[in-house]
Amino acid sequence: MKTLDINLGIDSYKILIEDDILSRLSFYIKEVYKNKKVYIITDDTVKDLYLDKVINSLKDDYQIDYVVVPHGEQSKSIEMFIHVCEELLEKNIRRNELLIGLGGGVIGDLTGFVASSLYRGIPYVNVPTSLLSQMDSSIGGKTGIDFYGRKNILGAFKQPKMVLIDPLTLNTLPKREFNNGMGELIKHGAIGNKKLLDLLFDKPRIDENIIAESLKVKRKVVEIDPFDQGLRMTLNFGHTFGHAIELKYGYKHGEAVAIGMLMAIKMGEDLGVTSKECYEPILKILKLYELPVDNYDYHDYLLDVLNDKKNLAGVVNFIFLTKLGECTITKISEKEIKENLL
Ligand SMILES: NC(=O)c1ccc[n+]([C@@H]2O[C@H](COP(=O)([O-])OP(=O)(O)OC[C@H]3O[C@@H](n4cnc5c(N)ncnc54)[C@H](O)[C@@H]3O)[C@@H](O)[C@H]2O)c1
Ligand SMILES: [Zn+2]
Repeated sequence: MKTLDINLGIDSYKILIEDDILSRLSFYIKEVYKNKKVYIITDDTVKDLYLDKVINSLKDDYQIDYVVVPHGEQSKSIEMFIHVCEELLEKNIRRNELLIGLGGGVIGDLTGFVASSLYRGIPYVNVPTSLLSQMDSSIGGKTGIDFYGRKNILGAFKQPKMVLIDPLTLNTLPKREFNNGMGELIKHGAIGNKKLLDLLFDKPRIDENIIAESLKVKRKVVEIDPFDQGLRMTLNFGHTFGHAIELKYGYKHGEAVAIGMLMAIKMGEDLGVTSKECYEPILKILKLYELPVDNYDYHDYLLDVLNDKKNLAGVVNFIFLTKLGECTITKISEKEIKENLL
């Protein structure tokens, strides 16, 4: 078992990572929740795979009810938010009763947002089952739904009472969903944890140790920037170019980040910020895990980057590696890009 403490004052919580923890959920949940009823929120895919197991592990200690939503990003909608709230109220949920989010990042974000809104806030525990949700979204307190054609535009910061991660659930994850998390996991190693990269060279199974090393990188930035005021920006390594190619070529987000990292390393090298020792090892790890490493010239995407609405006041914040496991933020103006880099 690996345990990570997330220190956020009154909102501090623990992340416990262990194979087959799904069979022992109530043993741990008892530490943070003393009432009788729990409500599981999950999606149809995860329900078929894991709901029985989860119910079995809780039934001796709790009365259990559950709400199932369709799998996929479409469930992060206002309609599904209303549906889940209605179902919970129909089931007579009280303000001091617990929600358990069982599923990927979609379920985590939706459950957390419901938990932040119902009765102005009820407790929730997160049980992430996709690689992305285990190595990334289980830390940070960001919850929310998509609205008005924009992703995550309605939401709240709401910390879970506890996060319980079972790496064995990754065995049933489809390859592309696995890739989606793996791109971000390698990113965590690249920007903040050389030890994680060293572990990955042997292509081990993604186990509790690797998930913990990945989460430590996110924990570091989240603890100094709990409300995402800017210091979390380093987590965007690979995303500047990644966003430019993600939709254009139909990559999953994490796959686009993989390619975006290679482009950012090349640009960093050209600017003399990134050590020449970064490209080959990152390329090697991406290939080991069969992530796409298609070769796109970063120069061809700088205009897309400039047009991205996130780039305020004609300045782009680029995240570059300095060496393996370390990164820096470099501000480059629109003028400089147009005059010197295009
Ligand atoms: N809150 C945050 O900090 C944060 C961070 C990153 C991403 N996100 C959000 O997370 C979402 C993406 O998360 P995701 O990639 O986990 O998507 P997801 O929840 O849609 O899961 C991907 C697919 O995998 C299935 N699945 C999940 N676990 C499985 C398992 N063990 N076996 C088989 N199938 C399984 C799901 O049913 C779904 O079809 C996005 O909406 C994104 O905005 C949030
Ligand atoms: Zn990302």
